Amino acid sequence: MLDTHGKSTPHIQPDGAPIAETILLPGDPLRAKFIAETYLEGAECFNQVRGMLGFTGTHRGKEVSVMGTGMGMPSMGIYSWELINVFGVQNLIRVGSCGALQDQLNLYDVVMAQGASTDSNYANQYQLPGTIAPLASYQLLERAKRAADELGATTHVGGVVSSDVFYNANDQVNQRWASMGMLAVEMEAAALYLNAAAVGVNALALFTVSDHIMRQEETTPEERQTAFTQMMEIALTLT
Ligand code: ADE
Repeated sequence: MLDTHGKSTPHIQPDGAPIAETILLPGDPLRAKFIAETYLEGAECFNQVRGMLGFTGTHRGKEVSVMGTGMGMPSMGIYSWELINVFGVQNLIRVGSCGALQDQLNLYDVVMAQGASTDSNYANQYQLPGTIAPLASYQLLERAKRAADELGATTHVGGVVSSDVFYNANDQVNQRWASMGMLAVEMEAAALYLNAAAVGVNALALFTVSDHIMRQEETTPEERQTAFTQMMEIALTLT
């Protein structure tokens, strides 16, 4: 468990409450609360700033935290940077939803982002002499895939697009990304992978397919819950 005494940031103020080395990161803070209530024993709240709830507890005896990140790369960028660089979190696992871009994907399937291409300029800060490919931790990815296979989950491993734009004025952009083999679109993984790479910690983004962009299909909130359970079971094997 990481000792947070004397540590706080503008966005995370644990007031001494512990944070685990491994953290699950849903976008929605109420989802973080739900995960803590459903899957963790002895959960203690470590953050309430801006309602971005974070909890630490145990799952099958292993310490784990869960916290919301908000939507989009600026928000994910802030929370993951502070968790890594101020509090010392080592393993960061995004648990979210994505819009499918490929025909072989179906609603409720689980997507594991091996890499996260992006239309964002987030990586510009590193002043690299080229274009970086934001990648998942292979170790976490390999473990997640093995756990998913054991659970019998339908999974797809590959590239996703982390987009800054949900309502895009250009209706061709998703087709272009699909033509380069991207499995799905979401809005946070690239910032998480870049922040992890900059310091050498481990990150992985897992998603449930909540909508199929090419086929204009959407899940209902009740249906999403079932698929979410499978993704959570996979994520919790990584603690
Ligand atoms: N997350 C879930 N569905 C999405 C979509 N269609 N675009 C971006 N992010 C998403």
